[in-house]
Amino acid sequence: LRRSGSSSTASSHFASRGFASALAHERKVAVLGASGGIGQPLSLLMKLNPLVSRLALYDIAGTPGVAADVSHINTRSEVTGYAGEDQLGQALEGSDIVIIPAGVPRKPGMTRDDLFAISAGIVKSLCEAIAKYCPNALVNMISNPVNSTVPVAAEVFKSKGVYDERKLFGVTTLDVVRAKTFYAGKAKVNVADVSVPVIGGHAGVTILPLFSQATPRANLSDDDIKALTKRTQDGGTEVVEAKAGKGSATLSMAYAGALFADSCLKGLNGVPDVVECSFVQSTVTELPFFASKVKLGKNGVEEVLGFGPLSDYEQQGLEALKSELKSSIEKGVTWHAKSK
Ligand code: NAI
Repeated sequence: LRRSGSSSTASSHFASRGFASALAHERKVAVLGASGGIGQPLSLLMKLNPLVSRLALYDIAGTPGVAADVSHINTRSEVTGYAGEDQLGQALEGSDIVIIPAGVPRKPGMTRDDLFAISAGIVKSLCEAIAKYCPNALVNMISNPVNSTVPVAAEVFKSKGVYDERKLFGVTTLDVVRAKTFYAGKAKVNVADVSVPVIGGHAGVTILPLFSQATPRANLSDDDIKALTKRTQDGGTEVVEAKAGKGSATLSMAYAGALFADSCLKGLNGVPDVVECSFVQSTVTELPFFASKVKLGKNGVEEVLGFGPLSDYEQQGLEALKSELKSSIEKGVTWHAKSK
């Protein structure tokens, strides 16, 4: 294990800048898959987050190096690297949030669903360990296909008697990040001011950005909205093709994952009105899991919010996505039942 303490200088620096209340909470975050394309920049970004007091970086290999490197950054958290399954329990113990970017990335021509068999096995073994070592942690699932890996995780937790639907999140933040960026470019508004909810799931047509609710409002044509919707749905594929066999989105995903984890931390710490879109257990539609705005609180999901009025185009998109999303969810549940 590689361990490095933060200096008191870093802590007092944050305190003097008004982070005193944030520092009152000790928060441990574990990243599983920390040596990977997403895992490394995500670990870096979590090291920069003053709400984190302990950062556990776990992977099957390579984490001592990543942890040693990241630990030299003079911010609050103490960083420890854990490599190999026999160290997974230590990595997880006491965690408030577990972020899972473990898996394999897509190559050109592959869908997220092509990753299913590999990801499901990885997610199952990691969630069994979470059930054992930190059953109360919030789980931020990044591993694809999210539409199926989240149901797999739920089934694992149920089978271990620790399932709490308020604590399991499919991370869809990158869809929101993309929708905001693309909308700002087309609408010619300041990207920092943009808000766009994205609902449904996290693959192709199941990703449904609600540009009719985007703010600041802009008078975009129907064709513009269609193009923006398609670009948001295909955003991951745009990166996979541009990287030409060298992986999928890692840097933007790390940013999105860090943003979502930060909101979870704020919710845990009692900050009011923290809202993010996420793929969670839901009764907003007839589907058992669905992405929509979620209010985050001290126990994870405080409230799953509805999606409000949809345009005709979005209503059609919603109806069109349901069958694919339903079968992806069922695929996860069925896989788990057969894997026992
Ligand atoms: P990568 O291959 O670069 O990294 C994956 C890491 O997981 C590797 O370091 C590998 O050693 C590790 N790993 C494999 N099995 C493990 C296990 N049992 N325990 C712990 N670690 C394990 O892949 P990359 O690009 O970082 O992508 C990771 C996952 O994130 C993929 O499933 C990818 O599809 C997904 N992803 C999700 C997005 C989202 O919006 N939710 C966006 C982009 C990617």
